[in-house]
Amino acid sequence: MPTLAVQLTTVSSWALRSFRRRGLRSTVGVAYSSLLDLGFDWRYGTETRSVVLRTDMEPELENRDRAVSYQPTKERPFLHLMQRLPLPPGSTFVDVGCGKGRVLLLAAQLSSLARVVGVEFSPKLCAQARGNIQVFRASGKLRAPIEVIQADAPKRVPDPSENVFFLYNPFDAAILRLFLDRLRESLAAHPRQVWILYSVPVHAGVLDVSGVFSRTESYTLGGNHVYVYTNK
Ligand SMILES: C[S@@+](CC[C@H](N)C(=O)[O-])C[C@H]1O[C@@H](n2cnc3c(N)ncnc32)[C@H](O)[C@@H]1O
Repeated sequence: MPTLAVQLTTVSSWALRSFRRRGLRSTVGVAYSSLLDLGFDWRYGTETRSVVLRTDMEPELENRDRAVSYQPTKERPFLHLMQRLPLPPGSTFVDVGCGKGRVLLLAAQLSSLARVVGVEFSPKLCAQARGNIQVFRASGKLRAPIEVIQADAPKRVPDPSENVFFLYNPFDAAILRLFLDRLRESLAAHPRQVWILYSVPVHAGVLDVSGVFSRTESYTLGGNHVYVYTNK
């Protein structure tokens, strides 16, 4: 456990770097979101905060080396994003790579969503997400049903009802391409408008040249970029 002095030094050097990069207003916003985030699990009795390194996930997972380690999306920026997006009421929201399920718990509180789905390839993380949903239910805040599906995203063809896909930089460009192939298959069989919300869009180039999806919005929330794509 680092001493208080070490912790204070770490925080103040982060604040200085952030101030230089983002300015005062944004630094205060990011710091506030991070502080609020510390309280999420404390408020609800869940465990969504701690990181799970990809190397600590099940070694038999075929695409483990192409995955990004688990870390949760922050509550406040996610809710801001969902408030700003004009998504049709009754949408089915999918968190692609849902990890311990923090985003599922946030999305399922929104009245605009009919259903919330988490797709996650690690059985251990799926079990943790299901446990968190169980615990969170006591808050009485869940409005939409949640389902956690254990699946490798590049092998699963999305269900025809699914129309909003949230990706918090879950995997590398090769897997993102395969995921988009499965989504194209789903759209060919069941044409519909879909939205892809790509947070920390490290491989945005893959979507930009897809020929199917175009970027309609770009946000900076909680210090992260989020790009919104749609197919119409
Ligand atoms: C950065 S975390 C995001 C967690 C969650 N979406 C959130 O925003 O709080 C990325 C997640 O994607 C999962 N993941 C990575 N590759 C995957 C794949 N091929 N199929 C399904 N899930 C995957 C990881 O196990 C991890 O839980």
